[in-house]
Amino acid sequence: MNQPLLEWDDKFLIGIDQLDFEHKDLLERLNSLHAALVDHSDVEQINQCLGGIYARLEIHFALEERVMREGDYPEYDEHKALHAALLNDFADLMHELESNPGQEYSEAVKGKLRHWLIDHIMQNDKKMAVLVADKPAKLVTQLGA
Ligand SMILES: [Fe+2]
Ligand SMILES: [Fe+2]
Repeated sequence: MNQPLLEWDDKFLIGIDQLDFEHKDLLERLNSLHAALVDHSDVEQINQCLGGIYARLEIHFALEERVMREGDYPEYDEHKALHAALLNDFADLMHELESNPGQEYSEAVKGKLRHWLIDHIMQNDKKMAVLVADKPAKLVTQLGA
C-alpha cells in the first residue's frame, strides 16, 4: 500500500462546511491521482483522475467565489485571479502528463501536487473565511439554496 500524498489535517479547515467538504474531496482526489501515478496505472485511469479534479475544481472555485461575493469580500478580484492561475497550472500539468503518459512520476510533479492546493487553502481560503465569517446566516441560506 502506497503512502498517500497528502493527509487531511483539521488545521486545513476554514470553517465554512461546504467548502471544507470540497477541500477534503479534492485532497482525496489528489491522493487517487498520486496513487495512479505511483502505480503506473493505465493512461485512461490517470486521465480520469485528472479530468475529475479539473471538473471539481471549477465547481469549487465557482462556489467559493459566490461565497466571497455574498460576504462582500474586499479581496475578491485578487482571490478570483488566484483561482484562474491555479486552474491554469493544473491544466498545464494535465497536458504535461497526457502528452507524455510513459514519463516518470518526477519529484517535481509530486512537489507541485503536494503544495498546489494546500498552500492556497492555508494562505488564501483561510483569510477569506475569517473575513466573511460575520455573515454566516446569509451564507448558510445561500449555500442551501
Ligand atoms: Fe480559494
Ligand atoms: Fe478553496
